[in-house]
Amino acid sequence: MSNHQPNHNNFTSKIGLILATAGSAVGLGNIWRFPVLAGQNGGAAFLILYIFCVILIGLPLMVGEFIIGRHAQSNTAYAFSKLTNHKIFKNIGRFGVFTGWFILCYYIVVSAWALDYLVDAILGRFGKLSEAGNAQVYADYFHDFITNPYLPVIYTIIFILLSHLIIIRGVKKGIEKFAKFLMPLLFIIMLILVVFSIFTEGAQEGLTFLFKPDFTKITFSTILTAMGQAFFSMSIAMGCLCTFASYFTKEANLINTAFKVGVIDTLVAVMSGIIIFPAVFSAHFAVNSGASLAFIALPNVFQQAFSHLPTVSYIISILFYFLLVLATLTSVISLHEVPTAFLAEHYKISRTKATSIVTATVCFFGTICSLSNGVLSDITISGKNIFDLFDYVSGQIFLPIGGLLIAVFVGWSMDKDIIRNQLTNFGTIPGKGATTIIYLLKYVIPVITLLIFLSGLNIIKL
Ligand code: PHE
Repeated sequence: MSNHQPNHNNFTSKIGLILATAGSAVGLGNIWRFPVLAGQNGGAAFLILYIFCVILIGLPLMVGEFIIGRHAQSNTAYAFSKLTNHKIFKNIGRFGVFTGWFILCYYIVVSAWALDYLVDAILGRFGKLSEAGNAQVYADYFHDFITNPYLPVIYTIIFILLSHLIIIRGVKKGIEKFAKFLMPLLFIIMLILVVFSIFTEGAQEGLTFLFKPDFTKITFSTILTAMGQAFFSMSIAMGCLCTFASYFTKEANLINTAFKVGVIDTLVAVMSGIIIFPAVFSAHFAVNSGASLAFIALPNVFQQAFSHLPTVSYIISILFYFLLVLATLTSVISLHEVPTAFLAEHYKISRTKATSIVTATVCFFGTICSLSNGVLSDITISGKNIFDLFDYVSGQIFLPIGGLLIAVFVGWSMDKDIIRNQLTNFGTIPGKGATTIIYLLKYVIPVITLLIFLSGLNIIKL
């Protein structure tokens, strides 16, 4: 690690680097997307499959990105070009930076919805909606909000500015310090919600659904869904892990860190299931109510599940949306950091300037994504509005391609000594599991990521 860039930062503590990386991983993917997918794909059977994907695909790719980032000690784009002269591989890093920025432009829109719902929960609006006595009012409420020309845009801009204020403070005083504070807070709120959930009327049914596997629900497409979810949830192939690893201390054990982040990320997804399913069952909702679960079904579910205790409904709604805001904020910070680090190092500009450029561009494209649910909804490409297009292109195209290239690069092209040195910290730790990880990166992951990619594009039907 002699090539440490003079102005390149580091996390200061082991716990700080683990929490910051876990902060990137834990987000909408865990709290919003995982329960929806589990609900649609047979609950426990999906959970088991998902855990396999995390172990066999997610963890090795995470370790792969860690190796590249910590060895290169620079932003993602530069990290790859430093390691190879190969034309395609040289550009994986730039591709990762672009993917991070691209995802941020639409991820921020959903984060903004969470922020708005937190404000609504605090103002007691969901309690008022429940007085109407039917579920449709929640759907109308959500629809009116996301198609409103101003409100979602204002919340989008507030959210990105929030992340801006943290990022601008740097790696130690910004990202690490906030992760150390926000992640434990997130965990405490989750624990409170889990306890509440276990005591709701539908707890038994909800927990059985989540923990008793029904393997008849598993098809090949379920397997691909679980893999895609592992990618998204673990922040793989978006430049984040590589950028964060460049801030790791030289003592950090890469395999162990990836394992811990993977465990935290999966635990949060399971806890979200424990929070959501009992309430959904007790309010007699369909468990597969789709992506609208967090914003249409849940506000209603929280009112119904504790209908005799309105104060409990009120508090649970606030806690849940606060949780969602915290989780997305730490993910947004990590996505914001990827292009910021690139601009600052590549163009040798100050961190403040780099952060501001990213903030400005995300404000612009985030606004367009947000408006595409309302006033700009007429602009569509192959039937998708701009927001859905960002989601589709990043999830089905950029992520699997990125994952494939990273696996092939680390497995086949990278200098074996660099890999060994990074995994054993230059021979000072045993680096257990290294051989298996390399094997998975070399043979298993390229095949699987290619399948996800081809089936996502409907080129093959599985
Ligand atoms: N992993 C995050 C989630 O689960 C999403 C994310 C992707 C965050 C990439 C940062 C980078 O919501």
